[in-house]
Amino acid sequence: MKRILTGDRPTNESFHLGNYVGSLANRVKLQDEYDSYILIADLHALTTHFDKTTDLEKNIRGLMLGYLSIGLDPEKVTFCLQSGINGTTEIAYILSILTQRSVLERQPALKEKLDQGNQDTLGLYYYPVLMAADILAPKANLVPVGKDQKAHVEFARDIAIKFNNLYGNVFPIPEPLIGEIPTLPGTDGQGKMGKSLNNAIFLTDTPEDVEKKVMSMYTDPTRLKVTDPGHVEGNPVFIYLDAFGTDDDKPQTTNYKLLYSKGQVGDVEVKKFLVKVLNNFLDPIRKRRAEYENKPELVDKILKEGTEKARIEAQKTLLEVKKAMKIDYFI
Ligand code: TRP
Repeated sequence: MKRILTGDRPTNESFHLGNYVGSLANRVKLQDEYDSYILIADLHALTTHFDKTTDLEKNIRGLMLGYLSIGLDPEKVTFCLQSGINGTTEIAYILSILTQRSVLERQPALKEKLDQGNQDTLGLYYYPVLMAADILAPKANLVPVGKDQKAHVEFARDIAIKFNNLYGNVFPIPEPLIGEIPTLPGTDGQGKMGKSLNNAIFLTDTPEDVEKKVMSMYTDPTRLKVTDPGHVEGNPVFIYLDAFGTDDDKPQTTNYKLLYSKGQVGDVEVKKFLVKVLNNFLDPIRKRRAEYENKPELVDKILKEGTEKARIEAQKTLLEVKKAMKIDYFI
């Protein structure tokens, strides 16, 4: 069975709809076909949060609840914590030896993080190297991520190819997989839904939260009266309807699109429909989350056991790496 490895930084405790369509949905969809590893990247979180370590534990539990609530099945998926997989950091060091400094200096994510005011540390430069090791330690074939992470997966590919060429075939060459809707707009109509942009609907939002957010959503600023023909294309209300409506919702969505573009239905009516669609999507997620919230020991155990399994895999790969490089002399 081919393997998936993907993950998230525990800089926050909940996922939003943009995370869902950008990457989480793929993980749920592929869990039957792939041996899936999901990594909580706490070491990576430290690169921007080294002075705020107190929230990490809470955020890690929040992400675990998020994964389990969307239907990732702990019988099929290995959940693991980066700081507990010690073979990975050693693999990362070896990969760093093969990495040109200029490549790390040019990574787009670095500039973004520095522009956001983060300290210019080696940890930030090293970020893609550790991420490549995360991916290569379990010998992952596929990496379902959001669009912003694609360059990092490509770096992991390049370094795997370089290693294999130098020392022999140890690593499969990983492929990125981006979600169907790589960038979901925010409720404010801005290009991207983001945790810190105040334009997100979270998987943990209550039905009332969802209603409040949707009813004040940005729609079509050129439409002043109901009878004005409205724009469907690029209108976040319709983008969300397409993304989260079920097959049963499709005829109604199509109908509203038509009426909207002719100026025959008001924003309020379409938004009410969207509230229903989103709450139908979120209800089973809320229900599963509530079940796991009642079993905190089980959630911790799932992460602990998964981390142990991932550590064994990483140690195995590390040994293969050393053998391939002929630095296994005294092992
Ligand atoms: N960098 C990813 C993010 O910020 C998290 C991550 C760390 C990751 N290691 C990974 C994702 C390995 C995929 C594979 O979202």
